[in-house]
Amino acid sequence: MTAPKYVEPSGDQKAGYLHYRRPASPWELFQKEEGLPVWKGIGMRDSRDLPRADWPRIGGKGSYIQPFGTNNVTGMYIVEVPARGALKPQKHFYEERYIVLEGRGTTEVWKNDSSAKSSFEWQPWSVFSVPINSNFQIINAASAPALLLAANTAPVMINAFQSKSFIFDNPYDFEDRFGGNLEDYWKPAEELEPHPIQGRAQLATNLFPDAASCYLPLDNNRGPGYRWIYPQMVGNTLLGGFIAEYPSGRYAKAHHHGSGAVLVCMRGAGYSYTWPKDKGGQTPWQDGKGDLVMQQDYIPGGMISAAPTPVPGETWFHQHFAVSKSPFRVFNFARLTPYAGANAGASQGEMVAGVGAEIGDGGHALPYHMEDPYVRKYYQQRLDEEGTEFAMPEEVYTPDGANINFDYS
Ligand SMILES: [Fe+2]
Repeated sequence: MTAPKYVEPSGDQKAGYLHYRRPASPWELFQKEEGLPVWKGIGMRDSRDLPRADWPRIGGKGSYIQPFGTNNVTGMYIVEVPARGALKPQKHFYEERYIVLEGRGTTEVWKNDSSAKSSFEWQPWSVFSVPINSNFQIINAASAPALLLAANTAPVMINAFQSKSFIFDNPYDFEDRFGGNLEDYWKPAEELEPHPIQGRAQLATNLFPDAASCYLPLDNNRGPGYRWIYPQMVGNTLLGGFIAEYPSGRYAKAHHHGSGAVLVCMRGAGYSYTWPKDKGGQTPWQDGKGDLVMQQDYIPGGMISAAPTPVPGETWFHQHFAVSKSPFRVFNFARLTPYAGANAGASQGEMVAGVGAEIGDGGHALPYHMEDPYVRKYYQQRLDEEGTEFAMPEEVYTPDGANINFDYS
């Protein structure tokens, strides 16, 4: 077959096609080749309910999860490790993080050309990350299958390099991420430090033995009594995210930003709203646009794409509600860096609004007193159904609500 010949247009003809179909990206082709089901949507009640198929490349059974707004940015999947079995040894040139949903086991990690293995144990709600391009193997020693939920930066790397051998068979060791001290590498840390950019709480640890019940310090940025940490793990630069918790009977201020965040419930139960900011506005129900608001209920193992839009630059309001009698804890699990999100377009050195800043103060959060009355009404109804008490302090519904300074915990 001869290669097509380019024909230069003549006169005022335009070169090329006026409309054309977007081709599959290298990541999308890779995902298809894997032969697994690919779930797509805004969220799900519990990822454990997804059908899983045999996964020849890594062993076990799995399903890809591609929440709206994450395509070509974050790879997510659930994988089942057979009882008294293991997944195949793996190595990949992208960052990856796991939440254990069910089971107990160990993960072994080692450098290229080295037989010295480091290892750690995991249990339900352990969170660990494997250092980029290290060798690792996930082993299930128990008599029941284990279920792990993973998020990675494979789409970004596969699309950039378009070479399977570069991604999966690359000899480079990141000494700065996975260096000499293998003995202490997986020792969980508990010492909080201020995040170097935002000043909020950061925890540098490569392993959370139980991220569903570990200590989270008071943060108050998303709502009264809100608790939060930024987990800095294995030197990751693209997989950021956060672990956050709402007290029982309380909910987040609505706030808007672009797509990327995926909240995975780890404890309690709740629901989230999400709607397009420009089309839906600040009070969608009041303005007859309630049909634009999407709602997702989720329990531990479930998730929501906070701003499920594929449109670059489009921001969506979203709002999270704790309905359980216990606190509602979520892990923002997908790819997020400290530089991205609502402030990605700012210049270096420019002052930008932190997450706690409200609309009217240069921020993106809608004060409670400005929210649609339906929000509180429906929340109250849901709490009544659950037998959970409404615990929002009345003062937050006043114009001064954002500035009242007392311990909300
Ligand atoms: Fe958000």
